Amino acid sequence: LPAMVNNLTTTHHLKSTLPYNKLSKKLKAVTLQEAIAFKNDDDGDIVIPNQEFSQQAHVPSFEKYLEMYKRSVEDPAGFWSEIASEFYWKKKWGDQVYSENLDIRKGKINIEWFKGGMTNICYNCLDKNIDSGNGEKIAIHWEGNEPGLDGSLTYNQLLDRVCQLANYLKENGVKKGDSVIIYLPMLMELPIAMLACARIGAVHSVVFAGFSSESLVQRIMDCKPKIVITCNAVRRGTKVINLKDIVDAALLESSKEGTSIGLCLTYANELAMKKEATKWQKERDVWWQDVVPECSTKCDVEWVDAEDPLFLLYTSGSTGKPKGVLHTTGGYMVYTATTFKYAFDYKPSDIYWCTADCGWITGHSYVSYGPLLNGATVVVFEGAPNYPDPGRCWDIVDKYKVTLFYTAPTLVRSLMRDGNEARILFDLSFFFYVTRRSRKSLRVLGSVGEPINPKSWRWFYDVVGDSRCPISDTWWQTETGGFMMTPLPGAWPQKPGSTTFPFFGFRYISCLLSYVKCPAIVDEKGKELEGECSGYLCIKHSWPGAFRTLYGDQERYETTYFSAFPGYYFSGDGCSRDKDGYHWLTGRVDDVINVSGHRIGTAEVESALVLHPQCAEAAVVGVEHEVKGQCIYAFVTPIEGVEYSEDLRKSLVLSVRTHIGAFAAPEKIHWAPGLPKTRSGKIMRRILRKIASRQLDELGDTSTLADPHVVDQLIDLADK
Ligand code: PRX
Repeated sequence: LPAMVNNLTTTHHLKSTLPYNKLSKKLKAVTLQEAIAFKNDDDGDIVIPNQEFSQQAHVPSFEKYLEMYKRSVEDPAGFWSEIASEFYWKKKWGDQVYSENLDIRKGKINIEWFKGGMTNICYNCLDKNIDSGNGEKIAIHWEGNEPGLDGSLTYNQLLDRVCQLANYLKENGVKKGDSVIIYLPMLMELPIAMLACARIGAVHSVVFAGFSSESLVQRIMDCKPKIVITCNAVRRGTKVINLKDIVDAALLESSKEGTSIGLCLTYANELAMKKEATKWQKERDVWWQDVVPECSTKCDVEWVDAEDPLFLLYTSGSTGKPKGVLHTTGGYMVYTATTFKYAFDYKPSDIYWCTADCGWITGHSYVSYGPLLNGATVVVFEGAPNYPDPGRCWDIVDKYKVTLFYTAPTLVRSLMRDGNEARILFDLSFFFYVTRRSRKSLRVLGSVGEPINPKSWRWFYDVVGDSRCPISDTWWQTETGGFMMTPLPGAWPQKPGSTTFPFFGFRYISCLLSYVKCPAIVDEKGKELEGECSGYLCIKHSWPGAFRTLYGDQERYETTYFSAFPGYYFSGDGCSRDKDGYHWLTGRVDDVINVSGHRIGTAEVESALVLHPQCAEAAVVGVEHEVKGQCIYAFVTPIEGVEYSEDLRKSLVLSVRTHIGAFAAPEKIHWAPGLPKTRSGKIMRRILRKIASRQLDELGDTSTLADPHVVDQLIDLADK
């Protein structure tokens, strides 16, 4: 072991609990011979980095990582301010790089980075890259839903478009600090709108265009935007979705509730729907194409404090009301750019494609800001990944010579299934849909949103990446702004399904780094666990990309995230650490379900169900699903006198689609004459989860139920 690593591992309790020599050897193994030796030696699957890749990587070895990680946790101010200095600041931050209090017992939770520094993230994404000679580099390749429909923008062109919209917003009264709701599909106009808001200091709140009008109302009522930006319709696969109707209904409803929006800027997506066919309110609606191109392509930047808000993004929690996660400017900028660079080993020649929608955090940090801050060329895809057939992704990879491909396990699983089907159908070539394309350009693959199981990991690695491309399995959250745990490609061996080690600055314990007194895995009493363990994933110190509050609800922010384990930010995830120090996320431990990488609160779905006039009570749990990871399983008690019928089932599902969105529709409605409750009336979800997943011999103790009979009734109705 290098001397430095030895220095780090002197804490006696860890020495006694962990096999350091084996770990360090594994982490250093970069040759095939070593790999074989480890395969023989190890009880699990392990993938050793390719030496050529490692040699060219930003972080070529585990030792280099340790050196950087050590600095990042021992001297966060020095580490991050050095990186921050590479960005453009109109005025530098003050003497204090950061201040924090994550301990609720010590008063108000507070996180600040680079306070006093004046900057602008749009300027750093565009003007700065143009000034350094990249004006003619492609910023965005846009690929439409229909193959053959595409477009692109250079950094110069993107800046012009952003400035025009920014000027339009300004002319219409949008000022620094005002919020703007963006309800757009994956057109180029979506990142343009985000950047335009950032340029003038407005706070954007992108609402995923799959959300229903009621969800949109909730968000409008919460953040009271000056203007709503949308488009008339979108094509996804073979479907046309009329977004303008959804927005119209939302604006009508919110004005009834007291929030009137005077301007709805609508992009005419004529390939999906003709202008003439779009319902229109003359005094409120304006076609984007009629006004924005008329505006000047020069727009002065609004310099904002590093701690001024950049955006709000609503996410699900364990209660019904979505949470407005607030991110500020400076720290988020530094963090997304840095995580992007290292986790994908980004080089200027790369072509990067992330399949996420900008309606989610992944689209904010790793379609828009992170890559553009690095001056990258980004592919933005409007369509569905299996349209016109399940080979579409690989067609796109070849068309643009994508080198970095970042997606979600749910897509990997569905393409894997289709790949397998094609093999049976045609029996022509192995995994026909994938192998009909070369994919030679691919260098690094990425995964996000949920645990990727080793089988899908292997398929992604062996088939999609031809056993050549490291996979960055990135663990993070809307709240964290950027990656918290991820392999760094080429730096150390990978174990399929493990997120491996913490990113720089994520201060918590990892077996090699015991000198950092900030353990992250705690038991239910908040006791820090060491070595090989399993528990709740917590974070003890702030990082630049951390969210700063829940919009308008500091109290909820503090109770939701900082009170379960005082002294820590609690992620809501379970995590285990194996004997080699690798981390394995085990999923949410709260009432949040992860369906196809979309985070949905059980309480939200329950509220949507009980709004149905014939539903008396509902309890929702998540169960394993082959493609979606988890799916929504709802137990529903109808009101007195109402019988089960297929029509009722359909209308209950419709209720969820209407109140939340199609992506939250329950997979199964299970009729429940009664729900298993304790004597104090609390629903025992543990039992429901077992019934839903048909683990009937694992129901456990049911004697504490007010009426143990209901369990038998539910089992009887399981397949009805
Ligand atoms: O449970 C974790 C899961 O997704 C949750 C965060 O969801 P959201 O805020 O919508 O952000 C999704 C994109 C970052 C986490 O609490 N999750 C995310 N990435 C992973 C993951 N679970 C396991 N492995 C991951 N790589």
